[in-house]
Amino acid sequence: MIRIAIDGPGGAGKSSVAKAVARELGIIYVDTGALYRNIGLYMLENGVSPSDSEAVSSALCGVNLELKFEDGKQIILLNGIDRGDEIRTPECSMAASAVSAIGAVREFLLNTQRDTAKQNSVIMDGRDIGTVILPDAEVKIFLVASAEARAKRRYNELVAKGVDTTYERVYTEMVERDKNDSTRDLAPCVQAEDAILLDNSKLTAEQTVKKVLKIIKKVEKKRRTGYMRLHRVLAPFLRFVMRLRPHNLERIPKDGGLLICANHISAFDVISIAATSPRQITFIAKKELFSIPILGSLIKALGAVKVDRGNNDVGAIRTAVNKAKSGSAVAIFPQGHRYPKVDPATTPIKNGAAMIAYHAGCAVLPVYIQTKKAKFRLFKRVDVFYGDPIPFDQLGFTTGGKDDYEAVTKRVFDDILALGDRSSLPPYDPSKEKKKNKKRKK
Ligand code: DC
Repeated sequence: MIRIAIDGPGGAGKSSVAKAVARELGIIYVDTGALYRNIGLYMLENGVSPSDSEAVSSALCGVNLELKFEDGKQIILLNGIDRGDEIRTPECSMAASAVSAIGAVREFLLNTQRDTAKQNSVIMDGRDIGTVILPDAEVKIFLVASAEARAKRRYNELVAKGVDTTYERVYTEMVERDKNDSTRDLAPCVQAEDAILLDNSKLTAEQTVKKVLKIIKKVEKKRRTGYMRLHRVLAPFLRFVMRLRPHNLERIPKDGGLLICANHISAFDVISIAATSPRQITFIAKKELFSIPILGSLIKALGAVKVDRGNNDVGAIRTAVNKAKSGSAVAIFPQGHRYPKVDPATTPIKNGAAMIAYHAGCAVLPVYIQTKKAKFRLFKRVDVFYGDPIPFDQLGFTTGGKDDYEAVTKRVFDDILALGDRSSLPPYDPSKEKKKNKKRKK
């Protein structure tokens, strides 16, 4: 999980930079200004003066804001309706700035913003993200530019959208809004102590994006060092408690994008791999694992990416692809589900692994996790067999379609199966699973 806060005055290009960075990293972009704009719009439409603190506070009970994401795109429903670009007019900008100085409004929006960042890796832009909303964000950037440069950009944006205005008006309003936003008592727009200041007055949007990505990479590198430190302390302990026996560690490529695919017996498989691999691994773990005490905290610390099995989680796949593309090792369980006490050769497998390898263009490393009777227990020996990496061009992709994904996943899974001893394991019986599920429901 990574949380990136980009704060700064209006027109500094926060939203276009954040959007591009979100796309590059495969994470969610949250435009918090749009929340304030929707409240500003509501007040204007309901005849409430946006600067009348009392009137705005009591009118808030008529506001229902829903923040959601469709294919990574943010959608805000104001009382059930997506108001689109109606919130981008100069009147609405001024109204948003006025309502944002009111405590009840900031309180009203606090949890919506924080909850989004609890569940996802995000890049969030606003005025108080690094200081109030996400004070412990991993990356904080304070993006600024001269008032002239910002007014010019905003003016061009508005003209392109067909808004009838002048540069002078945009400039005057921008300076006024800056003053409102940075001098108000509540959550003023100021640089957090630990934020990195970036002035892009003389930079193009592309150059700014590059600089921001560079800052993020640097921070991630630092975090990786932190991970390796944690790994040095924790891994020997876990290897002891779980009696982990790694085999053929020399087969793990030392660098370059890699997709590690393993069979899945228990929730502890993540630890079996993380505590034996000398290389840092990003796990794609189903979201239920994050709520298991201790294990959830451990996999979070290990940088696991949440996947929602119910929904076809495009975001998690995209994150995995981007991680592998940028040279990380990503691990996934092609069975998509734990299958203890049975021969993995007889269970269903899913296509996500091949899809990730295809889009990342990376090699795949098969791993077989073996325990007695394929049942995990603490203090009972777990063997982790690392196989030979399969280079991308030997995975056998042809068209990159569904059939391809199916065939490649099967080919990878065959390599996984060949690593272990499954001779004493009974076949998977789906009817037993159905019965178990029924019992659980009762
Ligand atoms: O980023 P923007 O121009 O869309 O924001 C509109 C107004 O909302 C801005 O004038 C200040 C306010 N705002 C805020 O106070 N805190 C935030 N996190 C985001 C925006």
